Amino acid sequence: MERITIIKLRGRFFLALALILLPLQIVTASEITYHQPPAEETIGNDRYSDDVRMGLNIFTRTNEYAGRYSGNKLSCSNCHLDKGRRANAAPLWGAFGMYPAYRSKNDQNNTLQERIQQCFRFSLDGFAPRLDSAEIKALTSYIHFLSRGIIVGKNPAGRGFPVIQDTGFDPNPDRGRQVYIADCASCHGKNGEGQEADNRQIINPPLWGLGSYNKGSGFYQNQLLAGFILANMPVGNEGLLTEQQALDVAAYINLQIRPRDPRLGFFQGILD
Ligand code: HEC
Ligand code: HEC
Repeated sequence: MERITIIKLRGRFFLALALILLPLQIVTASEITYHQPPAEETIGNDRYSDDVRMGLNIFTRTNEYAGRYSGNKLSCSNCHLDKGRRANAAPLWGAFGMYPAYRSKNDQNNTLQERIQQCFRFSLDGFAPRLDSAEIKALTSYIHFLSRGIIVGKNPAGRGFPVIQDTGFDPNPDRGRQVYIADCASCHGKNGEGQEADNRQIINPPLWGLGSYNKGSGFYQNQLLAGFILANMPVGNEGLLTEQQALDVAAYINLQIRPRDPRLGFFQGILD
């Protein structure tokens, strides 16, 4: 008899606790607010705004507006989604207030302009435009425009990609292949080749092969690629994959053929 009352009381206690905690949890979940960049229509008509517009064009149609620096088919916006606006897809406003910053990649402090150069060299498998070039200037203006109101030096929520914690299991490319065939190949192609329209505009970007990012790029790190995939793929069904599936499919993608790391010597780069 006594035991039953205790169990009943306990039950009530937990019910009460749950009722108190439930709304709290909802509040914390919806409390993440991301920086809202100004609308595109608010780009003005002065010389600064011309530069912003040029930066936007380079960012979304890289081959057309900065083709001589680009070695593959991608545009910046294929990886930095919604024209560099989307949280958790390495938004440009996430970068603005955080440079100069030390990077182990080249073992020195990097300015924002040097960081842009690196995406040309590795993610676009191309050449870095000079720091004083019109292209770097325009891209910097576009980033500046999106970042109005950002607090300099404070890491904004939604910067970069979600960080996947160690799941305790090694990424498994064989399982990744199954994920790829089931959830990715319909858009990115059975051989990772992507899909182009008749006028050669990219519909779905390639994920490997010579038209993709090279082995020096951030996406060549499975952890980073998996974070991007977890938050942003498959398009239209984001959030479908578990962390482990994202890691597995990233490992599968990065095992395929792609351009070499330009920092390595020619033969070393091929063998790597
Ligand atoms: C419905 C079509 C569709 C599906 C399904 C899809 N993607 Fe994508 N993916 C896209 C599009 C479109 C982009 C480019 C987004 C943009 O430009 O706004 C993209 C971009 C990417 C990129 C970055 C650009 C690049 O080429 O490196 C990666 C990586 C990627 N997808 C991986 C995946 C993976 C992994 C899956 C399966 C889990 C997947 N995608 C499923 C349409 C799709
Ligand atoms: C193949 C995918 C891809 C393409 C194409 C690409 N980037 Fe990136 N970019 C990345 C990745 C991955 C990172 C690293 C994000 C991280 O470390 O969280 C990054 C980081 C950046 C950052 C720093 C972000 C931060 O928060 O520190 C900037 C700025 C940037 N890219 C600009 C560009 C520009 C400009 C272009 C086109 C000229 C471009 N990117 C093309 C994948 C890409």
